Amino acid sequence: MSRGGTLHFWLGEFFLWLVFLAGAGSFFVLEGILKWGVFVFWIVLLWAHFLEPFWLQVEKKTVSLSELPALKIAIFSDLHLSPGKGEHFLQLIVTEISKHKVDAVLIPGDFFWGRALLLGEKLAPLKKLSVPVFATLGNHDHFPEGRRGVDQSHIAERFLKSAGVQLLRNEAYFWPEKKMWIAGTDDNDRGFDDLDKTMGSLSLKHPFLLLAHSPDIVKKFSAETSPALTVSGHTHGGQCRIPFLGAVPGVIPCETGRKFQRCWYPSRRLFVSGGVGESALRLRFWNRPVLTLLENNPDQKA
Ligand SMILES: [Fe+2]
Repeated sequence: MSRGGTLHFWLGEFFLWLVFLAGAGSFFVLEGILKWGVFVFWIVLLWAHFLEPFWLQVEKKTVSLSELPALKIAIFSDLHLSPGKGEHFLQLIVTEISKHKVDAVLIPGDFFWGRALLLGEKLAPLKKLSVPVFATLGNHDHFPEGRRGVDQSHIAERFLKSAGVQLLRNEAYFWPEKKMWIAGTDDNDRGFDDLDKTMGSLSLKHPFLLLAHSPDIVKKFSAETSPALTVSGHTHGGQCRIPFLGAVPGVIPCETGRKFQRCWYPSRRLFVSGGVGESALRLRFWNRPVLTLLENNPDQKA
């Protein structure tokens, strides 16, 4: 394993290069429609590996949530830092955020694709943000670390805190300027969330916004108890989407995420980020990495 690398990442890269080489070789051997079919597939694969994962989209969204004050937040999820996509891409996101006047940045988890110990320094661009940054951990941030396979979340936490991130692990922070709570569960995909503890650390005298990695968290709330706004990620929007049809069936790893793949779902007051990174394979198609600027205008009619 090379310096700064992760086994998962390099195995994925090796596999993709085998496919690229096989596709290029087949083009010269095959005939007719099959030959051109392979060519188109090869071009799509090159696009999905080398271009689209690095083509950041900045999306603006306005909502009207009467319980929350007027505010503007930047949201991006599933950064998945890796040897092939790291500090430079995060710097691009930070530069974009700095161009807009936002009150806070929310990151609902999955900072790493592999070992936090080797990748944590790549979080440094977050230090340049001049507004509060709130985050929670995702399933990848809990992956086993090192030979003994110890949960790496303590390493992830250390790097995030030194990058100036307010990490919420089953706890809430009272935001005095906005007179509201920002609550965050620990990763709820692998069962590290403790909703009783999270809810016990806030007072319902003020509204609360909830950060949770998987959108499945909404199943734990009724319409009466649900947060004023829930912000999640985890789905990556399916990573590779079929044009005009949506995510490839079976790819999104959670029930709610299959229904609410990415974007804003007013019926559940749920925002699911399509994410900015990738896992399993460095591929994105018809689904650019997305930084969302979400503005709440409480007086506007929904
Ligand atoms: Fe993820």
